[in-house]
Amino acid sequence: MVHVNIFDTTLRDGEQSPGVNLNQLEKLEIARQLEKFGVDIMEAGFPASSQGDFEAVRAIARSIKNSSVTGLARATKSDIDIAWDALKDAAEPRLHVFLATSPIHMKYKLFKTPEEVIQTSVDMVSYAKQRFPHIEWSAEDASRSDLDFLVKIITKVIDAGATVINLPDTVGYATPAEYGYMFRYIRENVPNIHKASLSCHCHDDLGLAVANTLAAIENGVTQVEGTINGIGERAGNASLEEVAVALNIRKDKFPYTTNLVLKEIKRTSDLVSRFTGMIVPGNKAVVGKNAFAHESGIHQDGVLKNTLTYEIITPEMVGIQSNDLVLGKHSGRHAFKDKIENMGFTLSAEKLQEAFTAFKQLTDRKKEVTDEDLFTILTDIQTAVADIKKYELVAFQVHYGSANLPTATVALNTPEGVRVETARTGSGSVEALMNTLEALIKEEIHLTDYKLNSVGQGRDALAEVHVKMTVDGTQVSGRGSAQDVLEASAKAFLNTVNRVLFNTKAVAQAQAELAQA
Ligand code: KIV
Ligand code: ZN
Repeated sequence: MVHVNIFDTTLRDGEQSPGVNLNQLEKLEIARQLEKFGVDIMEAGFPASSQGDFEAVRAIARSIKNSSVTGLARATKSDIDIAWDALKDAAEPRLHVFLATSPIHMKYKLFKTPEEVIQTSVDMVSYAKQRFPHIEWSAEDASRSDLDFLVKIITKVIDAGATVINLPDTVGYATPAEYGYMFRYIRENVPNIHKASLSCHCHDDLGLAVANTLAAIENGVTQVEGTINGIGERAGNASLEEVAVALNIRKDKFPYTTNLVLKEIKRTSDLVSRFTGMIVPGNKAVVGKNAFAHESGIHQDGVLKNTLTYEIITPEMVGIQSNDLVLGKHSGRHAFKDKIENMGFTLSAEKLQEAFTAFKQLTDRKKEVTDEDLFTILTDIQTAVADIKKYELVAFQVHYGSANLPTATVALNTPEGVRVETARTGSGSVEALMNTLEALIKEEIHLTDYKLNSVGQGRDALAEVHVKMTVDGTQVSGRGSAQDVLEASAKAFLNTVNRVLFNTKAVAQAQAELAQA
């Protein structure tokens, strides 16, 4: 059977989803989970795009041992140098360098002739080859490029040392037949194609990303790129969990192997959804809440008689456990530790203590603590940044009545350690609270989005709030959870502002390190 390598770009193309910005600890947690999921290659970011991205790629490269770590670079020497600095400590460093090849991109974006595009690609692959053992070269907008031009440029970049040739459907324009044909044409016409492997990379603008990916595999591609939950630029990328399950369920059509551990799908999807704030739609294939729910009487009857009637994927296959052991007031430290290890969390002794305290506090208010509650508490604790000076909520009060003007009073500790307090009104209780927080914070804030969800079911469910805002002109998103909606809102607001302080500190630290080096 042919082996297909899985290249995950959740932390690069996925992070390009509008409004998503992950901090370094969240990226590291996702990277560790991707390693458990069994991806062969993970694209950890675009090191030259910002100091924060550089730092995150470097931290991931140093920590991941069982997957190859790569970073994106434009076809310039400085991008390649920066990528090398970020990736050189990886177990298997790899560069992903790209340049557009379609007439539209070459003429209107790059202002380069086709010959110049060939020369730049060859020069940059040769330059990168001096350091990187593995080089992927991508022809951006390949699916709208001239096939014979692709043959010419691919032949030359392989001669220059590229080991993987990626042909993206950058704007999600191709149909499966067209996309598959492009790979067949390249395989049949590039004379040195046996020296490199072919990779596909699909966007979902026409809802065809997964179908196009499967068509590419049928036409000789041995590397598939995509993201968890299909997040990404515009309509997103091919959803890796969908590709993985399709390859498994339709082995009759796709006799290929991957290193993926399908049981890790649910946890990987949950982690990405929670950290990015991109909620998985209920009807999403494989990981949506309704993906295994049978609603109509006829379907329920069929499934009761024999699950094969309507169920092609089992929840167990993708790691959805039906026998969740629920913890409660009387559960002790031992049961708690067992449970969270089972859920895939490894916490330091200090964080474990913090998590146990938070769990006990929750059991005072909630009879049964579910896996979803624990997942929320644990991911927050796991990625909380301890040693920064930040805004801390001391207390708040909100007055709301249908006949009154909603008013909030808030007391905060500022990053400088000063306690400040004030009150403001708003047209609703959440707005009054946000107005008050905004008045106490010295950074300039514009709230652009607010989303409220419940964690699991039941009237005592935890509330989870995701917000997006600009803080001193920087776009940032954050989250907060609590049993009360207003408390979750205040936490989300402060979590978002504190992220900017954390990022600023990480950048300052990195600059100091670079200056010393
Ligand atoms: O979609 C695309 O073309 C990309 C490239 C940078 C590979 O993401
Ligand atoms: Zn892309």
